[in-house]
Amino acid sequence: MEDAIIRETWAEINLDHIGYNIEQIKKKLPQKTKIVAVVKADGYGHGSVEVAKKAIESGAEAIAVALLEEALVLRKASIQVPILVLGRVPTKFAPLAAEQDITLTFFQKEWLQELEHGAFKKELKLHMKWDTGMGRIGITTEAELIELLSELRETQNVSLTGVYTHFATADELESMYYFKQKECFENMLEVFEQEWSEPVSIHIGNSAASIRFPENMHNCIRFGISMYGLYPSSGIRENGFISLKQAFSLHSRLAHVKKVPAGRSISYGQTYRAEEDEWIGTVPIGYGDGWIRKLKGFHVLVNGKYMSIVGRICMDMMMIRLDQKYDVGTKVTLIGDQNNSHISMDDVAEHLETINYEIPCMLNERIPRIYISEK
Ligand SMILES: Cc1ncc(COP(=O)(O)O)c(C=O)c1O
Repeated sequence: MEDAIIRETWAEINLDHIGYNIEQIKKKLPQKTKIVAVVKADGYGHGSVEVAKKAIESGAEAIAVALLEEALVLRKASIQVPILVLGRVPTKFAPLAAEQDITLTFFQKEWLQELEHGAFKKELKLHMKWDTGMGRIGITTEAELIELLSELRETQNVSLTGVYTHFATADELESMYYFKQKECFENMLEVFEQEWSEPVSIHIGNSAASIRFPENMHNCIRFGISMYGLYPSSGIRENGFISLKQAFSLHSRLAHVKKVPAGRSISYGQTYRAEEDEWIGTVPIGYGDGWIRKLKGFHVLVNGKYMSIVGRICMDMMMIRLDQKYDVGTKVTLIGDQNNSHISMDDVAEHLETINYEIPCMLNERIPRIYISEK
């Protein structure tokens, strides 16, 4: 009973679509370029364990997350492929990462110096981060690279298994800055290869870069947003570089339906008044679920038709204007397909003046995720 869905509001995650999206990128990549599935932030809000399992089944050879905590969740779920943590992990947790065979990212000499070598039961795998223009984390100069490699040679119980960078503008069709970053990376790589003879995995591409420049991605890509069926930008969506299927949809059911007379106000602050006698439905979702108040004025689907959200969205409920009477329990689709109508993640993002990445991350754990697969 504990896991039962009681309130009738849920997200459906179509795992077949995750598999389809991986297939599409695989078709574009040369054989030598492998796929690392990015499942940080609980799989961009889709559920990291389920998505990681599906990605591996579909051909991903490794997983990337932002936090060591996220990597530990995957290991606990018996995911055994290599896992890379993309963020900085405090050195005192490095032995735990080593023990769990989790690869960490590093880019600071002091970080290597702080490692407590006595605490390592197993060798710690490391990827070095180069900041070629993102301005977030990573070394920026060839001098830093040489210094860091020299420190690494002095460090016990660690092995360098990868080097990588991240692009700031790969989703923009204007590519000048992308190529500037790429050139900076290739220059650093030349120095690296003179200094370091052991083979390492080299990776640069997020979804946008790998969709647009699949031939130039070195050993692997870090495939995030597009694995979930979302385009990194409208430019990439409209250009037809790749066909993707959105995996996430959001649904609820009418909890109450009533006819209100013209002039009657709806919700806090009386910001909406019925213009005429109207059918109003109450949907059990609100800002406490991450369905935020700024979505007032947006729409949802009932019976395949668009119905406006009216009045202020409350913490757990919101009201919609219906075109006719519907039964309590009628399905409401907030994101996804209903009959032949569709509300995309991009539509929601556009209303909120944000990017599609933010929407599934924002819909919190109060909304249960249901996994569907016909295969
Ligand atoms: C370092 C790094 N690599 C890869 C990704 C995946 O990017 P995307 O979701 O655009 O594919 C991210 C996500 O932001 C990232 O931070």
